Amino acid sequence: MLSRMLNESLKLPVQMVRRYSAMVALAGLESHDSVRLRAVGEALRESLSNTVSVEEKRIISLIEKRRSSLLYSDKEITVIDFGAGSSSSNRTKEEMEAGVISTVFVSDVCKASMPRFWATFLFKLIRKLEPLSCVELGSCVGISASYQAASLSMNGKGRLVTLEGSQEIAKIAQETLEWLGLRNVSVVTGSFRETMKSVLDSAKPIDFFFNDGHHDHDAVLKYFDDAFPSLSEDAVVVFDDISWSPGMRKAWAAIEHDERVAASISLRKLGIAFIGNNYASKERFRIPL
Ligand SMILES: C[S@@+](CC[C@H](N)C(=O)[O-])C[C@H]1O[C@@H](n2cnc3c(N)ncnc32)[C@H](O)[C@@H]1O
Repeated sequence: MLSRMLNESLKLPVQMVRRYSAMVALAGLESHDSVRLRAVGEALRESLSNTVSVEEKRIISLIEKRRSSLLYSDKEITVIDFGAGSSSSNRTKEEMEAGVISTVFVSDVCKASMPRFWATFLFKLIRKLEPLSCVELGSCVGISASYQAASLSMNGKGRLVTLEGSQEIAKIAQETLEWLGLRNVSVVTGSFRETMKSVLDSAKPIDFFFNDGHHDHDAVLKYFDDAFPSLSEDAVVVFDDISWSPGMRKAWAAIEHDERVAASISLRKLGIAFIGNNYASKERFRIPL
């Protein structure tokens, strides 16, 4: 009890110290020769300092309004989860392939969405990188998809395809995107195993690939391998929850060392991999937010 209270009271100062150290570490990225690495540095700085234009603020507030209404929803839905469950679930490959059915509150499903800070970072990153073709694994109720699609819409170019295994959850994601009037995005329903190949074929060359679906070591590496031939030459691949479990940490370490990855940035929660071989030596940045 006492240790929980202590942990809670330390959360904010620890976060503030981390963000301050990150601001300092950003200098190396912001002055980098690579446009893509500079983009990450600038996106991160703007997210940390909450620098948003009036137009950006308007759409972010609308998305957050939608998030709040889902977090207050008392509706129950039946879902099928093809993912890893919780970080301690230890589901077998067979269980994940078959999917686990349960009845859950929409509010609880929504809690799996990216927090505002990280979603804003994704938004800023897309504003800077200006990708034309984006794919997301794991729509959930459409929060991160909304941030990405809104960013593409403000760029005036680019499309997003987002994949979700559970039909009832995908329906909510669709409603979220419609409510926000975002038309540059489509939701594809079904397990990634079933849907990914045709999405990759139709979306290639993919400039921005966001993996926030199946948080399992083998699955993360397999989806990366499967997606790789459909990525553009200088694609950016973002992985969420790289520190979520020992398996996710191991998967991220393998990606950082993968020869197809020219540079990588670890932000503790997110990992960013830059595809290509146009760097003299592999560069790995760590900014533990
Ligand atoms: C962490 S949530 C995504 C959150 C969302 N990106 C956001 O921030 O708004 C992961 C989602 O991926 C879906 N998912 C996990 N594994 C999957 C798989 N193998 N096939 C299809 N969907 C899967 C789950 O149903 C869940 O809704």
